[in-house]
Amino acid sequence: MSGNGHTKTATLRIERFNPDVDEKPAFEELQVELVPGKTVLDALLEIKEEQDGSLTFRRSCRHGICGSCTMNINGINMLACESTLTDHVNEEGLVMVRPLASVPVIKDLVTDRSSFWEQYQLIKPWLTSPEDVPEKEFLISPEEVNSLSNAERCINCGACYSACPVISIDKGFVGPHAMLKAFLRVSDSRDSNHDVHMTDIETLWDCTTCYMCATQCPKDLEPGQVAGTLRSLLVEEGKVPRTLGVALTSTFRNKNPFEMMHADRLAWAEGLPLQDGLAEPVDALYFVCCLACYDPRAQKIAQAMVSSMEAAGVNLGTLGSEEVCCGSEMQRIGEMGLFEMMVEELTESINKPQTQQVVTTSPHCFDVFSNHYPDLNLNAEHYTQYVARLIADGQLAFKGEINKRVTYHDPCYLGIQNNVFDEPRTILQSIPGVELVEMERSRKQSLCCGGGGGRMWFEGHASGAHLSHERVREAVSTGAQILATACPFCLNMLDDAIKTLALDDQIEVKDIMELVVEAI
Ligand code: SF4
Ligand code: SF4
Ligand code: FES
Repeated sequence: MSGNGHTKTATLRIERFNPDVDEKPAFEELQVELVPGKTVLDALLEIKEEQDGSLTFRRSCRHGICGSCTMNINGINMLACESTLTDHVNEEGLVMVRPLASVPVIKDLVTDRSSFWEQYQLIKPWLTSPEDVPEKEFLISPEEVNSLSNAERCINCGACYSACPVISIDKGFVGPHAMLKAFLRVSDSRDSNHDVHMTDIETLWDCTTCYMCATQCPKDLEPGQVAGTLRSLLVEEGKVPRTLGVALTSTFRNKNPFEMMHADRLAWAEGLPLQDGLAEPVDALYFVCCLACYDPRAQKIAQAMVSSMEAAGVNLGTLGSEEVCCGSEMQRIGEMGLFEMMVEELTESINKPQTQQVVTTSPHCFDVFSNHYPDLNLNAEHYTQYVARLIADGQLAFKGEINKRVTYHDPCYLGIQNNVFDEPRTILQSIPGVELVEMERSRKQSLCCGGGGGRMWFEGHASGAHLSHERVREAVSTGAQILATACPFCLNMLDDAIKTLALDDQIEVKDIMELVVEAI
């Protein structure tokens, strides 16, 4: 923080833009005194009052109630009136202030939120009273209030909407704020016509359940997480997009969503040193994942995992024919009955082996085991966590080199949803020759590849726009030759995008496990 020893100052780097006169936005740096308790909004008001009356921004309540002061502070959407300057300045005393993304700028930090309100109207957010209105007030039980997950605390600030990757490519998507409001209405016993809130929101199938919206909600709400609940209502009525219906039926019949034979689940492992985790004690139980079992591209991750663990002296076993779909995507699609069935079946199998450790290929399996399998007796880890520890313990060492520039794409189910950001990077940095560079959007601000929440089987409503394409272009702009990731879903999406964009002469996508086996 700059200062003369007595007075500390903060520099606000503010994105200024007046579409009536400016060709493009430009940053302006303005200083204010840095004192404890001063908020970003206080600083903006001070600048407007004392330095530049033309600086334009919205505010009203100044107490986190009205939602009008939402802006992007250091890359995250926040309420300026609740963001203390001292919490956000960097070591040089700098804080970056920008308008919300994904909505047009009217002037400086003021945006046009019309699309936000149009989407909100789609769910008809008002209560529909029953015909037999009680004489006095409507009473709802404390249990019912709890089941609303605090959704009534939403202040319509737009932070989630602006952070949503699907909104960034398709303003027709219903959006997290409207999904949350629809959830509130269909969960409310005072509302007599739940259907009315659901009729115009078929785009809710476009949600990738990345949960970026939840990470940026200033009221700690979980708008993305309600997608599964809303979808479950549609599933109950059989209103499921056809391709998702096929995946659900296949999971019920074949124990995988890809219409593949269950008997072929371990065909990828033929000849590889893999133990039967149910028959003998193993160091770790390897949960492979449907995609890594059946998709030829993703099978390479599983094969690399087995070879690498052999090199590290790890005795790895699987559940064999007892491995079935973990149900993660079924839960996100909203098929709760099927999901509960998978949880029950798989919990029984996974608890059998004599090991304390289950290691997954996919962040999706890791997430669901860690957060939605209440009776699992084992410690669940994603392979990046397990492998990073083997490297730190000296059990896994690299003899080869990969002399390439590599950038890493954070899978949402691993990073945003489970805070595993460091281990994948630690592994990459341990490989001799790798030059790791970051994309503009990384870690908590990463961009979803578009493959979660059932989107692997559902094209979505956005015409021509793909998150995976945007992500690949961003990776290419770093000059990286390898786009690394740690998820079979991301691998699949990004690989397809590279081929579609004909960028395979510039960049290739690899799972971290493939790089590990290459460098051993
Ligand atoms: S979970 Fe992701 S895609 Fe779904 S509404 Fe939230 S930010 Fe948008
Ligand atoms: S859910 Fe949170 S981020 Fe979204 S509009 Fe409501 S308060 Fe704002
Ligand atoms: S001014 Fe009302 S929420 Fe910030």
